[in-house]
Amino acid sequence: MGRPTECALFKQCWFIRRMYKVGLTGGIGCGKTTVSNLFKQLSVPVIDADDIAHALVSTAGIALAQISQQFGKSFILADGHLNRGKLRETIFNDAEKKAQLENIMHPLIYAEIKRQLSELSSPYAILAIPLLLETKMQALVDHILVIDCPMEVQINRVKSRDKLSAVQITAIINSQVSRAERLAQADSVIDNTQDLQKLSRQVHLLHKQFLRQAQ
Ligand SMILES: Nc1ncnc2c1ncn2[C@@H]1O[C@H](COP(=O)(O)OP(=O)(O)OP(=O)(O)O)[C@@H](O)[C@H]1O
Ligand SMILES: [Mg+2]
Repeated sequence: MGRPTECALFKQCWFIRRMYKVGLTGGIGCGKTTVSNLFKQLSVPVIDADDIAHALVSTAGIALAQISQQFGKSFILADGHLNRGKLRETIFNDAEKKAQLENIMHPLIYAEIKRQLSELSSPYAILAIPLLLETKMQALVDHILVIDCPMEVQINRVKSRDKLSAVQITAIINSQVSRAERLAQADSVIDNTQDLQKLSRQVHLLHKQFLRQAQ
């Protein structure tokens, strides 16, 4: 077989460089994971920042040693796992500690997203980053897709999913970017107030739009 032509090489490089990246975000319980799964069903690759963060703090993850060094050994359980509850409580009540944890986690998450992206060759990919706006990672994506629903819906759905009270859920909502700010930064919005059928219809329409935009 001969060498690839210059034209073929150019097309390949152009394709890699131009892969369209959709940043999927939204407040707690708005339906980001549900929407990500719908895109996966359409064979769209989804890079999930929550999954990456989870892997980084697992016993095999490279962030665990850094957390132990920075916060102390009391944040690691006897079985070697991260004491998530203690860490969550600590950063919720201490802005400085929260910033320290972010300084460990964000560069590692960013690097892993880039690594996973470099392995993809699809027309477009979904980057599911719950705190996309809070962590100012907008530059990573070409398009911001916000999953939106009213606060009452968020609270009810999270209440039935997790063992959290309305007060706890409201505190989390208040620690995130406001709904208005998120919507102001959105290129597209999925309204997830209604049933799953309506949600799926919106995902199918956006899929067609993203395939066109990826060309
Ligand atoms: N349209 C819908 N109708 C009914 N239930 C829904 C709908 N969309 C999502 N849910 C349910 O609401 C809950 C929250 O949805 P999901 O987990 O997708 O949100 P999320 O944005 O990923 O939340 P988190 O911010 O905690 O990761 C889940 O239990 C999910 O099954
Ligand atoms: Mg989720």
